[in-house]
Amino acid sequence: MIILCTPDAVEWCDGSQGEWNRLTELLVKQGTFLRLNPAKRPNSFLARSRTSDVARVEDRTFICVKRPDEAGPTNNWADPVEMKALLKEKFRGSMKGRTLYVIPFCMGPLDSPLAKIGVEITDSPYVVVNMRIMCHMGAHVLQRLGDEAAGLVEKKRDGHGCFIPCVHTVGMPLAHGEIDSPWPCNEEKYICHFPDTREIWSYGSGYGGNALLGKKCLALRIASNIAREHKWMAEHMLITGLHAPDGSVTYVAAAFPSACGKTNMAMLVPPEQYTAQGWRTSVVGDDIAWLWPHEDGKLHAINPETGFFGVAPGTSYETNPIAMDSMKENCIFTNVALTDEGDVWWEGMTPEAPAHLIDWTGQDWTPDCGRTAAHANARFTAPASQCPTIDPDWQNPDGVPIDAIIFGGRRATTMPLVFQAFNWGHGVYLGATMGSEMTAAAAGTIGKVRRDPMAMLPFCGYNMGEYFAHWLEMRRYLRHLPRFFHVNWFRKDAQSHYLWPGFGENMRVLEWIVRRCKGEAAGHETQIGWTPSFEDFDVTGLPNFTEENFHACMAFDHREWKAELVSQAEFFIELYDHLPKELLFQRELLAARLV
Ligand code: GTP
Ligand code: SPV
Ligand code: MN
Repeated sequence: MIILCTPDAVEWCDGSQGEWNRLTELLVKQGTFLRLNPAKRPNSFLARSRTSDVARVEDRTFICVKRPDEAGPTNNWADPVEMKALLKEKFRGSMKGRTLYVIPFCMGPLDSPLAKIGVEITDSPYVVVNMRIMCHMGAHVLQRLGDEAAGLVEKKRDGHGCFIPCVHTVGMPLAHGEIDSPWPCNEEKYICHFPDTREIWSYGSGYGGNALLGKKCLALRIASNIAREHKWMAEHMLITGLHAPDGSVTYVAAAFPSACGKTNMAMLVPPEQYTAQGWRTSVVGDDIAWLWPHEDGKLHAINPETGFFGVAPGTSYETNPIAMDSMKENCIFTNVALTDEGDVWWEGMTPEAPAHLIDWTGQDWTPDCGRTAAHANARFTAPASQCPTIDPDWQNPDGVPIDAIIFGGRRATTMPLVFQAFNWGHGVYLGATMGSEMTAAAAGTIGKVRRDPMAMLPFCGYNMGEYFAHWLEMRRYLRHLPRFFHVNWFRKDAQSHYLWPGFGENMRVLEWIVRRCKGEAAGHETQIGWTPSFEDFDVTGLPNFTEENFHACMAFDHREWKAELVSQAEFFIELYDHLPKELLFQRELLAARLV
């Protein structure tokens, strides 16, 4: 890579505090970082990206495998030999004038049988400091690789070889003496995955999932390929512990599409009445879950990450106090606004906006200027260890046992607040047909329902039909099955008001889920699944929420479900070649129940 990319210098990252101090200082000097007021936000920084480099680029993300149908109709396919040749030309000389950083990292606790070691090569110090928060990174990982190679420790992990090579460049070489941009990147971008050789090549972007290659590229797209081969699952899911007053813990994993509330639910603060009874929650993960059939016959899960790369707008002490407390110090903020006191602000952080800000593009901002102060996909990078409700087992290599799998998206109509699947096959069908209304974060028509199976549409590294078959097959390896649920916090009335208060109040839905898992709560068998009745549902402490409101949240509309079936069929036709027949039958069964 040194010969190919011709950097001016090479640095091996050790993950130390000294290295963080040096690189953050360098980023400040280069103008990429602004140090926030240490009295308000110690050891924290603000970065403003180029306006053309603000999110993942799904249309520039490629799965490079020999045959197009291995990638399937939901992925962009490229021939691996041709793409590798193209990338080599792009990478040639790409790091001129820059330092090449070598980042040894590990996704998952080092001793977990599922952990994956990667080595990311990057010319972005912004990536280095973010990786230090988001995963195990540095000398101890390198040491582990060496020990494994020397046979000093047993390598229990599956997968090919010793580590997964991940190469990244912002694609902006510097001519001799040329002044660098605060956010170097290239207008042309390639986010490429080579599942057969387990490689990742990323060109042209410095942002989030495009550049922090351990996250979506390794822990989802490459890992989903490894998981399929080795009979485990790599999923776009939060993991949270629901602690009942009797001291029992029910761990649940939930798949919601990007910007649909995973971080919020992972960190849920129950309503007062619940906390008074002794209910609480704990965070294992907020974005990615690796799940496997444990020797005890249950599905266990680990979070392969060590940090949160969360959506900033909408996060406040009202909506998510745990996230707010997790980002008090040692954080990186990207594309949020800067206050006159040298702290951060974004839409929704406080009920009233400050009178003056510097917005995410670096311009003066006032509440009446007609622009948002933070970008809709502005993010905070915060160490999970700073989360006040982090679960004591969040780094347990053995993971936590999962009792419920929850699917959900943003649906203004059709989908009730909660229902339970009849069985595993029906649960997989609910996940496979998941839909969500487009938000500003996803490209497309705002408000249109996009099918996003298991929230994995942008992250499944192989054919989606085969992925469904893998889900169906996993049942065989479990003796104790988790229960499946579908939730919708986003249903609206005719005036476009949310029918359900959401956020902490979601605890009321989760309580029903916990009690269903324990066989304690009643349910009604309906056409679409098991549902709670108003009596099974605790609404005390929700003064303005009547039985009528509950029925509005839970309403079943025949016309809407007919339209839903038609729309699901359209999606199934797209996937027809590799779609397991069992899912077609599930749709038929639903149709039969609807008449
Ligand atoms: P990624 O990090 O992109 O994978 O997303 P995420 O699923 O972690 O998204 P996040 O939790 O950051 O979602 C944030 C958005 O969902 C914000 O706009 C929140 O206001 C909104 N949100 C979260 N929970 C609720 C809820 O219960 N009700 C409503 N109405 N909105 C919610
Ligand atoms: C998502 O888009 O689902 C994210 C943010 O979690 S990123 O890591 O940028 O993909
Ligand atoms: Mn995500």
